This record gives sequence, C-alpha cells and structure tokens, in this order.
Amino acid sequence: MLQRARTEPGVSAMRVLTIGSGGREHALCWAIAASPMLEKLWCAPGNPGIAAVAECVPIGVMDFPALVAFAVENKVDLVVPGPEAPLVAGITDAMTAAGITCCGPTMAAAQLEGSKTFTKEIADAAGIPTAKWERFEDAAAAREFVRRRGAPIVVKADGLAAGKGVTVAATEEEALAAIDAIMDRRVFGEAGAAVVIEECLVGEEVSLFALCDGTSAILLGSAQDHKRVGDGDTGPNTGGMGAYAPVPSFPPEAERDAFDRIVRPALAEMARRGMPFRGVLFAGLMLTADGPKLIEYNVRFGDPECQILLSRLRSDLLIALQAACDGELDYFDLRFHDEAAVAVVMAARGYPEAPESGSAIRGLDRASEVPETQVFHAGTVADADGTVRAAGGRVLTVCATGADLQAARDRAYAAVDAIDWPEGFCRRDIGWRALG
Ligand code: AMP
Ligand code: GLY
Repeated sequence: MLQRARTEPGVSAMRVLTIGSGGREHALCWAIAASPMLEKLWCAPGNPGIAAVAECVPIGVMDFPALVAFAVENKVDLVVPGPEAPLVAGITDAMTAAGITCCGPTMAAAQLEGSKTFTKEIADAAGIPTAKWERFEDAAAAREFVRRRGAPIVVKADGLAAGKGVTVAATEEEALAAIDAIMDRRVFGEAGAAVVIEECLVGEEVSLFALCDGTSAILLGSAQDHKRVGDGDTGPNTGGMGAYAPVPSFPPEAERDAFDRIVRPALAEMARRGMPFRGVLFAGLMLTADGPKLIEYNVRFGDPECQILLSRLRSDLLIALQAACDGELDYFDLRFHDEAAVAVVMAARGYPEAPESGSAIRGLDRASEVPETQVFHAGTVADADGTVRAAGGRVLTVCATGADLQAARDRAYAAVDAIDWPEGFCRRDIGWRALG
C-alpha cells in the first residue's frame, strides 16, 4: 500500500493506526495518507472507503487487548482514535501502558465528554461561560426542581448516551417525561444514574475545534452542524446531517475570542488538576446575546465537522498530531485554505429511528468526478464483487470545497445527485443559515 520515503532528515517515516469506521475516520485517514511523513497506515476496523487509503484490520474499536497487541506487533508510532467511546473507556491509557503514542486524552481527561457534571465543574472552576445547572441523583428532587423552574428547560443524562441523552424541553411535561425515561426507566442505562438540569440557552450553535498538547492549544477551525434530520431543522436529532464552514455569524475574531474564553481556561484547569488534555477538544457553543457560551465539550473531532475541517486544512495533519503528542504545539502554526466547504450526509431511509441496511449504492465514481469533491464512507460494506451497500444510519458524507459557500454547496449537491441510491436521503438545505 502506501509506502512513502522519509522526507526530512532525522525524522523517521511513521506507522499509524487510526481507530474507527465512520466518515470522520475516512477523512482522518484521507488526510493522514496525504502526509509525506507516512510510511504505513492501518485503520481498525475501517470501511470500504477507507480501504482505498489505508489497510483495514478487522478489530473492533473497543477491543483494547487486540488493538494494543496489533500496535505493538506492527511497531505503530502513532494511534489516532476517532470516536469518543474508546477514549472515554481509556484507549490512550492502554496504548501508553504498552509504550505506544496515542493522540487522544487519557480516561481521566476524557471525562470532559464522558460526564456532564465533570464538564460543568471544570467550566465553573475556570470561569467559562455556560448555562446555569444543577445535578440530581434523586428523580423526585429533579422533578421538584423542574416544577419550580418551569420551561423551557434542558434535561441531560449525566453519562455518555450516544448523543441522545439530551432533551430541550419546551414544556414542563416534556422535562418530566425526560427525567422519567432517563432515571426511572434507564433508557440510557447507567448514564442515567444522575441527571443534569440546565438553563435553556438561546442562539445559534457552532462547533469550535482545538488541537491540544496538554498545556498549549491551536485552533483547528469551526463549523456549523445540522443536527435535526429534516430540512428547516425539523424532526428528531441525529449525529449530524451536514456541516459547513466558514460560518458567517462566527468570524475569525469571534472564533479567537471563544478560543480564549472557552478553550484555554479549560486546558489550564485540566492541567491544574493533574489531568492535562491532549488531543482534539471540540467545544459546542451557543452564540447567545451575552456572547458565546459552552454547551458541551467533546474529546474528539465531530462527524461531519471533521470532514469540513480537514478539507480546509493545508498543513500536514500527521505532523500536527505528532506535535500535539510531543507537547510541541507552542510554536506550531496551522495553515488553511481560503475556500469554503460543505458536507452533506446521506443517510439510510428510516434514520435515525430504524435505518434500513443492505441497499446497493451506485454512481460513487461519477460523484467523485465532481471537482473538489470527496465522498467519505461512513456506514458501508462492500460485496465480493465490489458493490457498496448501506450498513448504518449515516452512510456517506459528500464533502466539497469552493470559492464561496454557494460554490461549495452546488458541488456537494451535484455529487449527491450523481449517486444512484433510491433508499438513501439527505437534507437539501445544508448551509441555510448562511445561504438561505
Ligand atoms: P449535547 O449532547 O450536550 O450536545 O446536547 C445536544 C443538543 O441539545 C445541543 O446541540 C443543543 O442543541 C441542545 N442543548 C444542550 N444544552 C442546551 C442548553 N443548555 N440550552 C439550549 N440547548 C441546549
Ligand atoms: N456532529 C456532532 C458530533 O460529532 O458530536
């Protein structure tokens, strides 16, 4: 596969293992594969799209013993986990214990995503603007609090609930029903042992990303996600149906300001507590009338935001990730393309409730011929004859760049329209806040 010569004297060519199988990991592999520093790239478990740029190995993202053994046996220099679940469960600690460098937070630092309470405590201790909150381990006390405060109000399962543990309740009844589901019926299992109840913030949401080395951080950029399944932001929440950047309502000065108020203080507080944060920190922000406020941190790239950010990144991602692991971001500078980027997620009919698997997807080659367009695989499998089939909720991310958002969007939808997949669907309005 990818065998590249070393390009800088004194720096050895790198052997890299990426962990995950979604559109985010396809984009990570695509960007890492472009690095002249790369000697060999694997992805566990990967997908048919990733197989074009990396060697896929059939190991699950939570099978730590097998992942560590693979990394040791194959003399992997750097592990790059994509999703949150292995990070929160300690993949970085497991790799580190085996002498393998892993570009992600430790289990202790990953609490920034794994526990809402932990995040709120860090935010309060560091003076980071965020919604007022209370935590309850007792359902009766939580209900009483909701009745006292009234709606709108936000109810969250304290632990990790695959992005589904949050109810923004417009009415008191809705909030009470959420407490019932989370705490009494435990629909998210142990993630529902406690709830966090928050003030409801009003504004536009953006995602801000920083690469962190424990003490220093650099901006990776920002993007706006589209969480609802339907056009016009209707229907249930999803993992994200599309994204774009730059976001006109969040210009570079605002980005920088949010970075200083919401990323840097968190990093300092984490270091002070003896759990320095290394890896990608994703701050979900609400742009309120009183300035940007933190909704949540995630400890990884967003999906599909990653596809957008990496399409705009001009610098070598692999060198940046290694610099983060070496604690050398202080003097590091990332360069970006000026172009705008738009990512459209194609999902299987029935997503998010009950996506249908197995339908054949044709026309992917034609879609890839649209200039400045990448089709990232998210939930696909391939038959022996090469036929690509849907195997998940979010199945493809079609990502395009262009001189401006309109040009990028036109390209992305031209590529979407070249794909022959009657059982799939997408939103047709990605970027509507910027473009109408
Ligand atoms: P989270 O899983 O914390 O990202 O929450 C999922 C979504 O719920 C966010 O993207 C917001 O749209 C919404 N949300 C979370 N917390 C709040 C809040 N305090 N006020 C308003 N909306 C919120
Ligand atoms: N697109 C939002 C996320 O990855 O959490």
